[in-house]
Amino acid sequence: MQDKLTLPVFGLLHKVCTTHQIEAYVIGGFVRDLILGRPSKDIDVVAIGSGIDLAEKLAAEISPKPKVTVFKNFGTAQLVVDQLEIEFVGARKESYQRDSRKPIVEDGTLDDDQKRRDFTINALAIGLTGDNFGKLLDPFNGLEDLENKLIRTPLDPDVTFSDDPLRMMRAVRFAAQLNFEIERSAFVSIQANAARLDIISFERISEEMNKILRCKKPSLGFLLLEQTGLLDLILPELVALKGVEEIEGRGHKDNFYHTLQVLDNLVPNSENLWLRWSALLHDIGKAPTKKFKKNGWTFHNHDYVGARMTQKVFHRLKLPMNEKMKYVQKMVQLHLRPIALVKDTITDAAIRRLLMEAGDDIDDLMMLCEADITSKNHSRVQRYLLNFKEVRQKLKDIEEKDHLRNFQPPVSGELIMETFGIGPSQVVGLLKNAIKEAILDGVIENDPQQAFDLMLQMAATFETPLFPIIHPTNDANNGI
Ligand code: CTP
Repeated sequence: MQDKLTLPVFGLLHKVCTTHQIEAYVIGGFVRDLILGRPSKDIDVVAIGSGIDLAEKLAAEISPKPKVTVFKNFGTAQLVVDQLEIEFVGARKESYQRDSRKPIVEDGTLDDDQKRRDFTINALAIGLTGDNFGKLLDPFNGLEDLENKLIRTPLDPDVTFSDDPLRMMRAVRFAAQLNFEIERSAFVSIQANAARLDIISFERISEEMNKILRCKKPSLGFLLLEQTGLLDLILPELVALKGVEEIEGRGHKDNFYHTLQVLDNLVPNSENLWLRWSALLHDIGKAPTKKFKKNGWTFHNHDYVGARMTQKVFHRLKLPMNEKMKYVQKMVQLHLRPIALVKDTITDAAIRRLLMEAGDDIDDLMMLCEADITSKNHSRVQRYLLNFKEVRQKLKDIEEKDHLRNFQPPVSGELIMETFGIGPSQVVGLLKNAIKEAILDGVIENDPQQAFDLMLQMAATFETPLFPIIHPTNDANNGI
């Protein structure tokens, strides 16, 4: 492995460890990624003894000396060199968790340290000291598992997972990220221990979900979450979409698999994590709204119900409740609109309404809708996509003409009050809304003068008509 440790910092570590006779290893995800050829900027170094001491000694060799951040309670230290974040830790006997709040109790040997890690592929270590430099220490055949694309635990999986139940999510996440399989006994153990996830905070769980969503093929992760029973505990709303019901010989599509297909469809077109959340949640309203009617299955209002559910899901999963949640909610709520525009003869008014409601997110919405076409009938898909092209063109034309994307009322409430000499009242809202509707329906253009004229006309026809007040001009005073 010597030829792989080419970064200058490893040369320095070799020198420091050898000079001071400190037994140390680079270990964990960095080694895994090094062998897989995946870029990685986080390096974990484990020292037999004090990791903090090694960090200080390394820092002393570098000019200018980098700052060493020490976490005494946890026996760890961190420094940044050449944009690499290096974490130093003393080998330990008990489970290793990066974000554990538990202080370390007992020092251990390299072997102790390796066997308390999550997976064999994350327990690989490379020596840094003396003749050990570049030597791979692989007591659990992690290298073989890397070759066989296998997620396996170093110890009995029940023990490894009970050390930190989040590792069950990590198993699924690594399987999805690396396109690996979870080894049979580990898989069975996750199925048996899934309920133990309840001691893990939703912040940590959601972080893993985000990592699954960022994968090239997120469906791999969500299928595994479902098969292991983990999804039932974190997102039962999605599991509820699984299955096909049939009444009077009429079935509906399986909305769970459909959702995963939509998610995968979206990946090549966008890296936006929140758009991927939107794809994941776009149909969650379908389970509670499902009904069988004379003409077959309906999911009436599933867009609105889904948008309401989105807020609850975000709250429960401790995802951000800010504009990101609002964005996902908006996507879920609007996801049927462009499709409706394809089906009907498209009116300008409908396009204007969509532009105004979607605002700057219209392109993302169109992407979601295109991904939502998962019919197996190839010519049908082609037809839809072609119609979508038309919708996109129309959106472009109308946006260029009317600039509705970030609609600001062309006549403000203040101007209305000032013009008619009135205070805040219902009439102000009424006039503002009437102007907006007139623009949407194409009665007037999105233009301040046209809007002002319309406002005057309308106000004059009220049951109690309103007329503009005459402002005394300064001209009258000019002669004094
Ligand atoms: N680790 C562990 N159990 C955990 C978390 C981490 O055993 N619950 C160990 C693994 O050996 C892992 C190392 O700590 O390789 C570093 O953890 P982390 O940075 O979270 O994971 P990486 O493997 O580096 O992968 P990624 O950066 O993709 O999360």
